[in-house]
Amino acid sequence: MSSPTPTVRFNDRVDAMQPSATLAMKSRAEERRRQGHPVVALSAGEPDFDTPQPIADAGVRAIRNGFTHYTENTGILALREAICEKFDHDNGLSYTPEQIVCSNGAKQSLALAIHALCDEGDEVLVPAPYWVSYPEMARFSGAEPVVVPTRVDNDYRLTPEALDDAITDRTRLLILCSPSNPTGTVYPPEELAALADVLRRHEDVYVVSDEIYEHVIYDAEHRAFASFPGMKDRTVTVNGFSKAYAMTGWRLGYLAAPEPIAQAAAKIQGQFTSAPCSITQKAGVAALEMDKGPVEDMVAAFRRRRDVVVKRLRAIDGVRCPTPEGAFYVYPDLSRFFGAEAPDGSTIEDGDDLCFYLLEEHNVALVPGPAFGEPKGLRLSYASSMADLETALDRIETGLAALR
Ligand SMILES: Cc1ncc(COP(=O)(O)O)c(C=O)c1O
Repeated sequence: MSSPTPTVRFNDRVDAMQPSATLAMKSRAEERRRQGHPVVALSAGEPDFDTPQPIADAGVRAIRNGFTHYTENTGILALREAICEKFDHDNGLSYTPEQIVCSNGAKQSLALAIHALCDEGDEVLVPAPYWVSYPEMARFSGAEPVVVPTRVDNDYRLTPEALDDAITDRTRLLILCSPSNPTGTVYPPEELAALADVLRRHEDVYVVSDEIYEHVIYDAEHRAFASFPGMKDRTVTVNGFSKAYAMTGWRLGYLAAPEPIAQAAAKIQGQFTSAPCSITQKAGVAALEMDKGPVEDMVAAFRRRRDVVVKRLRAIDGVRCPTPEGAFYVYPDLSRFFGAEAPDGSTIEDGDDLCFYLLEEHNVALVPGPAFGEPKGLRLSYASSMADLETALDRIETGLAALR
């Protein structure tokens, strides 16, 4: 006789944590595929391109040359120097290697920054729609995520007024993400300057600026938040290699921060994971040093797909779709279909129901808005082939037209 499964007691913060909705949707789509359904998944957050050859070659060389041991906890000096050079060249920001911490993906960099800065009782401002992990990371640190809504007719950008209203004497951190996952929104420099003006009146508020989509940008200008007057001393800039260099599986991200914050982040990393993979670090140096042609080609392909996706979504009656200027997502507002009746007689109550319906009945996987703190929209990733995008859009069109 098998013994009963013991009840495991978990850490309260683990119990309170939500699993990642984007990963959950990915496995649901894969499960349906395994059952034989021809699912087109537009739910993934990764480029569908291979890592450029010079980067892959540097990784192979690292293995062949036996560069396969532990490295310095914050990353090899050559990589941190190359990152400083990148900040200087791309963002006009001057950092020293002591202010850089390299980690296993920007996700880890974000976790380090949030845990280094936040404590029990602190509030973390998270403009919505937000990337799914920000509130969970804030909560895990003991802080309370405070969601600040934005509006579709303002392209989902946080306004200085909304920021000012949200700040209390418990506010510790603001998390910004431009270009944004999930909306693709890019803040113009003058709007970032206006947010910085508000923050200058609240000197205890720090900023984590997630700039991982910096190079996946179309007609807009990216400005690092730390480059605005007074912001460098209180901003942790997070960036990484996953998106611009199609290196999601290599796991490499980094943060740049005032030295005491970088040291605190390094202390956590030193006890939890240590440095990222040595081979990956060599590949990261090659990425920063290579000719940027492959990145530009990839971004040009994303732009062509964005244009098609936005045009087709806008042509559907009842869909509101801002034009994203960066990343590889669109976030249409589909709330006009909430309350509609599906052909099987069931009611589409909300974004979760709509996503479920589109997956189960029309074999398109998207991610529902509630996961991003903005329930009216859905996230569609156009990091897929044009053929898959056309098929998915045909199905979305048919699926929405069938709702009454
Ligand atoms: C906004 C944003 N930040 C951070 C990350 C984490 O990237 P990685 O850990 O692969 O570097 C992602 C990945 O989806 C993202 O979309």
